[in-house]
Amino acid sequence: MTTPHPSPRGDGAAPAPVGVGTAHAKTILIGEHAVVYGAPAIALPVHGLATRAELHAGGPWALDCDLHHGSVDDAPPAIAPVVTAWRQAVDRVTAANGRPDPIEPHQLTGRLRLISEIPMQRGLGSSAAVAAAVVDAVAAASGVPLGLAERTELVQQSEMIAHGKASGIDTAAVLSNVPILFEQGAIAPLEVGGRFVFVVADTGVPSSTATAVGGVRTLRGEQPAVVNGLVNRLSELTRVAVDALQRGDAVALGAVMDEAHAALNRLGVGSDGLDRLVDAARRAGALGAKLTGGGLGGCILVLCGADDITRVQEGLRTAGARGTWTTILEGTA
Ligand code: PMV
Repeated sequence: MTTPHPSPRGDGAAPAPVGVGTAHAKTILIGEHAVVYGAPAIALPVHGLATRAELHAGGPWALDCDLHHGSVDDAPPAIAPVVTAWRQAVDRVTAANGRPDPIEPHQLTGRLRLISEIPMQRGLGSSAAVAAAVVDAVAAASGVPLGLAERTELVQQSEMIAHGKASGIDTAAVLSNVPILFEQGAIAPLEVGGRFVFVVADTGVPSSTATAVGGVRTLRGEQPAVVNGLVNRLSELTRVAVDALQRGDAVALGAVMDEAHAALNRLGVGSDGLDRLVDAARRAGALGAKLTGGGLGGCILVLCGADDITRVQEGLRTAGARGTWTTILEGTA
């Protein structure tokens, strides 16, 4: 959370922002890493974890967030994705604007305040969610609506700076309110034939997606047959997961998640902390559990019965989880 700066008016009341954007976290159900090599993957929204961007116009470009308070010129490199999202969104809405009363860029600069509940570097899409909230705050401030394709492009430009060569799944997931199947850039909403209860648990260990992706690439160079075999198996498991979701079959989905966790460990992106939480979830009666996102730290995703949420969360906390969040898919079919 940011600490609000005192009101410039000195009367205790913060001036209203000219534009506000919000976005939720995401978790990858299956297919992370394999998706980088063209395999399909499934991502779910985590509506209970959100980010908010507030644009207070006027003055030079400045930020107010956990990582930096002050001019963007003095911002640390970790802020570059946010600044990119902001600048590109300003360029886009001012260029798109053929109105008689054109928006000037200076109307969209000033102080950008970011308030995020999404832990950073945990595979929960924090960087993409922040970029999405910033883009939407600029669009709201300008009055120029941006379509999904334009928002996707702008958020993905920011993600390329945050993660290097990102597949685009995080961008697609934070911009979708429903589960999606992501395959080679194509995004399709998924049908869900029953209720699925998931718990996300945080090891508390930050991890770099770029490092994890780079590690898999190195392993693929050294042992192409092994890595390609695992990518193919993860691809098959994703197809099985789509079918299980559509049929409302939580037992089948749990089994797929367990196998995916083992495959990701063999790709070299596991960790002792992730395994400790996965084991604790299974001991507490989970139907399945796996690491989610880049791995090497970060979070796990657990599938459990509705009656087992409390027991699973307690088991995870006892095993050292720093935070747990529940996300539930209601059947759409
Ligand atoms: O941002 P993360 O840690 O959730 O990872 C995204 C998924 C990866 O497949 C590991 C990377 C990518 O770009 O698809």
